Amino acid sequence: MSKPKRRILVTSALPYANGAIHIGHMLEFVQTDIWARFQRAQGHECYFAWADDAHGTPIMLRAQAENISPEELIDRMNAEHQSDFRDFGLSFDNYSTTHSEVNRECVEIIYKQLEESGYIDRRNISQFYDEQKGMFLPDRFIKGTCPKCKTPDQYGDSCESCGSHYGPTDLIEPRSAVSGTAPVMRDSEHYFVRLSEFENRLQNWMTSGALQPEVVNKMQEWFEDGLRDWDISRDEPYFGFKIPGTEDKYFYVWVDAPIGYMASFKELCERKNLDFDEWWRPETETELYNFVGKDIIYFHTLFWPAMLMGSGFRQPTAVFAHGFLTVDGAKMSKSRGTFIEARTYLDHLNPDYLRYYFCARLGSGLGDIDLNLDDFVTRVNSDMVGKVVNIASRCAGFIQRGSNGQLAGKLPEPELYQQFLDQRELIADDFEQRNYQSAIRRIMALADEGNRYIDEHKPWTLNKQEGQQERVQAICTQGVNLFRVLMTYLAPVVPFTAATAGEFLGVPLDQWSDLDRPLLNVSIHPFKPLMTRVDPLKVEAMIENSKENLQSTETPAASELDLADEIEIGDFLKVDLRIAKIVDAAAVPEADKLIQLTLDIGGETRNVFAGIKSAYDPADLIGRYTVMVANLKPRKMRFGVSEGMVLAAGPGGSDLFILGPDEGAVPGMRVT
Ligand code: 2FM
Ligand code: ZN
Repeated sequence: MSKPKRRILVTSALPYANGAIHIGHMLEFVQTDIWARFQRAQGHECYFAWADDAHGTPIMLRAQAENISPEELIDRMNAEHQSDFRDFGLSFDNYSTTHSEVNRECVEIIYKQLEESGYIDRRNISQFYDEQKGMFLPDRFIKGTCPKCKTPDQYGDSCESCGSHYGPTDLIEPRSAVSGTAPVMRDSEHYFVRLSEFENRLQNWMTSGALQPEVVNKMQEWFEDGLRDWDISRDEPYFGFKIPGTEDKYFYVWVDAPIGYMASFKELCERKNLDFDEWWRPETETELYNFVGKDIIYFHTLFWPAMLMGSGFRQPTAVFAHGFLTVDGAKMSKSRGTFIEARTYLDHLNPDYLRYYFCARLGSGLGDIDLNLDDFVTRVNSDMVGKVVNIASRCAGFIQRGSNGQLAGKLPEPELYQQFLDQRELIADDFEQRNYQSAIRRIMALADEGNRYIDEHKPWTLNKQEGQQERVQAICTQGVNLFRVLMTYLAPVVPFTAATAGEFLGVPLDQWSDLDRPLLNVSIHPFKPLMTRVDPLKVEAMIENSKENLQSTETPAASELDLADEIEIGDFLKVDLRIAKIVDAAAVPEADKLIQLTLDIGGETRNVFAGIKSAYDPADLIGRYTVMVANLKPRKMRFGVSEGMVLAAGPGGSDLFILGPDEGAVPGMRVT
């Protein structure tokens, strides 16, 4: 019975073009990719259109820090991201950037429609301005003391300690995180989308089945609070698209980011000769799904559909939100080595391991997903290697050696094959509902059945008996066919393994309907190991590699107390240690640990990045003394050049000490 063919467009959130991809991102991207591959395996037309999110203040500042143009930065990042994604088996059909001419056109069309329909307002607002840097400061670039709980060093929009939300002007002693100076208030004209105009339509859309119940609840709270106008403009300097008709105003990055989904798909339409309008007109039968993290629901369930409503386009069929990734029960941490970049993972481990593990843990809700590293090793080894691949490896040799690679002409137990097929709809329904963990439970229960069948029939014993060759061939044909069903169900999850399994079986495993007919009377190819066991030593090596190396290059890593190799006194004397006065200190906004120090060593100042954010408030350091290695070769880091290193002692975290007694200290004094 063939199902009507659906036309589906899926997207993952667009990663920012100012940083490397890490496994937290991969949770969502793998979730999306499994869904897209699953839809294609059902015979549906399914595209995955995607891009880098290339605009905004952090990208502009990062390019400045690296002394390159934003274009150079985003091009480099785009290439890195795409290579990570391909190596993780993500099957996107187009990968673009929001900084593209196609996106500019889409943004301008949408904006023009909104403006002509009277949805845009302009008015003056007053905001914090950094006079030293000559820029208005986004909330995240203002830090100060929380007005509620008085915790210092909190962002301008919310407090990480007590969780309260406020405006940047509520902060006590606000400071610019860019220059460290106190910001001033300044007026400028801003453009707003009148969001409340869309309230009724958003409510209808919300109840159309487009959203998970938790998301609907959240939205109801937002409606109760009242929808405020959305500020869509940013003043110069900014990296983005200029608002038509203005000289110095740019679209806020969150305007052109989701429109990037549309623009990336438009590029695909041009390449594949698809009818763009058919996919984006209202009332279309085509389906659009946006996978997003729970932190960006607001943007995807209010701003994004409102922009589409106001400009005559279709809305998403559904927005699928998910929770965050934790590792070993805690937030990913650079010092613990659990902030694992995608490339670091790939340097050590098979991408299918992680794809499988995420799949086995993912449900349809917004709960966080934990990557427990011990469980990861156990689970992948016991399920994928011990159960699924094991069926093939137990049968392949007998077919190859005993029957010259030829499968038998019929199955000895067609009912068992049918039992595997009977689960197809249920498993498909689980994938469709994004209840992946349930799909995996069903598939693994079948794998247990398959192994039980082989255990019972013991081809290895029969093989030793006279005249049993046909029986052995039949049993192993049954086993190989059960394996084929399992690998076909798992192909969206573990595409690399499925491709190798397809080579072994001599047939692709990408259409679930192919399973209607078992594989009989055909030759299969010699068995190649499909998936080796996860080696816990490689997991350890990956964690070691991920440990923040900034500390060991900038300040001695306090956690690494193992004594280093012995050195000669002459080696030690090469190190020029000097007393340094800290004349300026500012947090590096994009680095968890770094503070940028300006050090006076007597007639010369040095710029040094030190991994001490967890221990010091930059403001408390100014005017104090420390000891630095003054003859360390300057080192280019992500945020600028570091011209030396300060000495630190202590176990790390907040117990890290770089300050000496100030009394009697003279900048430049030699330390011996
Ligand atoms: O939160 C983020 O990482 C954003 N770059 C996601 C953008 S999603 C879409 F709207 F482009
Ligand atoms: Zn607080």
